[in-house]
Amino acid sequence: MKKALISGSIMVASSCFLFAAVTGDDLVQKANNSGLKPMPTGKELQKATGMDKVTKAQIELGKKLYFDPRISSSNLISCNTCHNLGLGGTDVVPAAIGHKWVMNPSHLNSPTVYNSVFNSSQFWDGRSAHLQDQAKGPIQAAPEMNADPKVVIAKITSIPEYVVEFKKAYGNNVKIDFDLIADTIAIFEKTLVTPSRYDDFLRGNVKALSKAEQEGLDLFIDKGCIACHNDINLGGTLQPLGVAKEYKFANVGGFKGNKDGMVKTPTLRNIMETMPYFHNGQYWDVKDAIKEMASIQLGDEITDKDAAKIEVFFGALTGKKPDIIYPMLPAQTIDTPKPTFD
Ligand code: HEC
Ligand code: HEC
Repeated sequence: MKKALISGSIMVASSCFLFAAVTGDDLVQKANNSGLKPMPTGKELQKATGMDKVTKAQIELGKKLYFDPRISSSNLISCNTCHNLGLGGTDVVPAAIGHKWVMNPSHLNSPTVYNSVFNSSQFWDGRSAHLQDQAKGPIQAAPEMNADPKVVIAKITSIPEYVVEFKKAYGNNVKIDFDLIADTIAIFEKTLVTPSRYDDFLRGNVKALSKAEQEGLDLFIDKGCIACHNDINLGGTLQPLGVAKEYKFANVGGFKGNKDGMVKTPTLRNIMETMPYFHNGQYWDVKDAIKEMASIQLGDEITDKDAAKIEVFFGALTGKKPDIIYPMLPAQTIDTPKPTFD
């Protein structure tokens, strides 16, 4: 019943020029009813991200591994090369470039690592559910870090300071294997969350968003973007791509989603920092991405003015980044395997 009433009022809204956008408390209510959820805080956040079960020593070690380029076979590429934490967790190139300057063979864009803990699936085709599982992929992938797990383990265990840190993190009997290395990086990744004014608004602080941002949010809901960009991350689930029309640049790289043609909906948090957009990085202006989305997913050719309104709302999704102090990495020894470049 309630749904029918809401869609009734949307019809009135679009057919009547005098009808103002929903704002204030009514919009808070409407957004919450539309499946948008604020990022949890405090103990709830700890629980939601699994941080209630980890130690500071584990997080700090994971951070070092995240920044350590020696995990790659060339000693040049770290997770931070493509998921640069100073650049919204991305690399600002259309397709990722890894080992030997090779571009991702499917022309895939590096998704942001910020807030990836809230995605229900990882990778553009959703093939990983968890960050732990995910981290093992890029370390070994030839176009990324190109590393043999055995060499990664040999590198880490040849560095005495790392061995001491693994013991501090997991106890004296720790077995440093590939799974544990990936798990430890994933623990650090779970700390990469960026709460924003938008979350304060969803929790009822109507002053947290400007009037223009509220109008953009209202339009984002009315247009139906929330069908897929919802929950905590305004994304994170697998969805069909090209519902109403084929994606204009579908042929660039040839990526077709998973076996059912489903594609991971990217988070819209920090979207103003994570250009270029779409899985193959074909749009630099977010307004073009918004218009293409409306067209191919909703069959709606929206105006430049409406795209600009939604862009204003997107500005409110830029979150507060955690304070990250670049870690000093422990020195290698003469026994540490040397870099290889083929
Ligand atoms: C050469 C660039 C490159 C490097 C190095 C790299 N990644 Fe990625 N990362 C990518 C690309 C490209 C994707 C998307 C790949 C796909 O969907 O098949 C991705 C996907 C991800 C995702 C999934 C996010 C999402 O929303 O789906 C996470 C998390 C991630 N990488 C973390 C890491 C970690 C941790 C490391 C270091 C161990 C790392 N990456 C190293 C380029 C890179
Ligand atoms: C049917 C589900 C669905 C609907 C409806 C939808 N989206 Fe998307 N959105 C997706 C998927 C899936 C992608 C990833 C597409 C790709 O990269 O190829 C995406 C990508 C995006 C991107 C690019 C993000 C990035 O980091 O590359 C933006 C911006 C976006 N959507 C905004 C919108 C807006 C605004 C609306 C409403 C006008 C909307 N979407 C409606 C599923 C949807």
